[in-house]
Amino acid sequence: KSVVLTGITTTGTPHLGNYVGAIRPAIEASRDRSVQPYYFLADYHALIKCHDPERVRQSTLEIAASWLALGLDTQNAVFYRQSDVPEIVELTWMLACVTAKGLMNRAHAYKAAVQANQEADEADLDKGVTMGLFNYPVLMAADILMFNAHKVPVGRDQVQHIEMARDIGQRFNHIFGEHFVLPEAVVGEETAVLQGLDGRKMSKSYDNTIPLFAPERQLRKLIMKIKTNSQLPGEPKDPAQCTLFSIYQAFANKHEVEEARRWYAEGIGWGDMKTKLYEYLNDHLATARERYEALLQEPERIEQELRAGAAKARAHAVPFMQRIRESVGIRPLG
Ligand code: TYM
Repeated sequence: KSVVLTGITTTGTPHLGNYVGAIRPAIEASRDRSVQPYYFLADYHALIKCHDPERVRQSTLEIAASWLALGLDTQNAVFYRQSDVPEIVELTWMLACVTAKGLMNRAHAYKAAVQANQEADEADLDKGVTMGLFNYPVLMAADILMFNAHKVPVGRDQVQHIEMARDIGQRFNHIFGEHFVLPEAVVGEETAVLQGLDGRKMSKSYDNTIPLFAPERQLRKLIMKIKTNSQLPGEPKDPAQCTLFSIYQAFANKHEVEEARRWYAEGIGWGDMKTKLYEYLNDHLATARERYEALLQEPERIEQELRAGAAKARAHAVPFMQRIRESVGIRPLG
């Protein structure tokens, strides 16, 4: 079976970008019975940028409830918390020992931190950079390589990490034998980078997100806040330059997108377009939102799902790690 794997970091409430970039394509892929899905809550990754235990716990619950509310079939998909599979950390170490530091110097998250220090005229360019942040791509490579994933559905911001996982896996294979499948990123054309309220990439770090299951009133309020240009109703508008359109396009079908293009050509006013987007998203998400809210009231049920998923994940990870231990010359456990 072809393995599809993806994860979401448990540092906040899941947003529309997470949904269109990762969750939706992952759930679609999981309907194909020739695919073995592994979907997880990246709580080890959360510790890199969040030292608030309550927030990590709450986010884990919300992200788990989101996947389940959206109809993830946990009979077929292995759905788990990353930290329930501690073998991932062990593999991270094995991989770290074949990973060039120079490769990690090029990772976006690390480079962004260094650049921010440069711009702030900091003498120490590594200020605020933990080993966790520096190692982020190695941990992510372990997530992916552990389950021999072929395909990894993600937004564009994660593509570099999947390429690094390939490099690291290849290096390990070269030294210790063919243990790892080399993964490929799967990125949707229309959904690679969903824009946020201010037109930049929708991201928790920019505080410009629309929560996937925002209650109706909040959803409306946020959509009304989306930045537009100063064109007036009646003026023809360019959909390619418009955040409202780009979000609409990430959800609507072809026919609906064509219709929206006509509204733009006919000079729809921004207020009207915002109402249309709100109504569309609200209709689209209402049923899943109800299930989500109900699930949040039943944390034991979510916990049960995650434990069952962890058992399945470890049924693979434990023997696989024995093989990896042996391949590097470390005694298998037991
Ligand atoms: P995270 O939690 O930042 O994001 C989860 C997924 O959502 C996608 N995404 C977006 N897609 C389109 N437009 C956006 N504006 C947008 N914002 C976020 C991300 O690309 C990602 O696919 N390190 C990862 C989590 C992770 C992982 C993995 C992913 C850990 N291990 C192994 C795949 C495989 C992260 O922080 O994603």
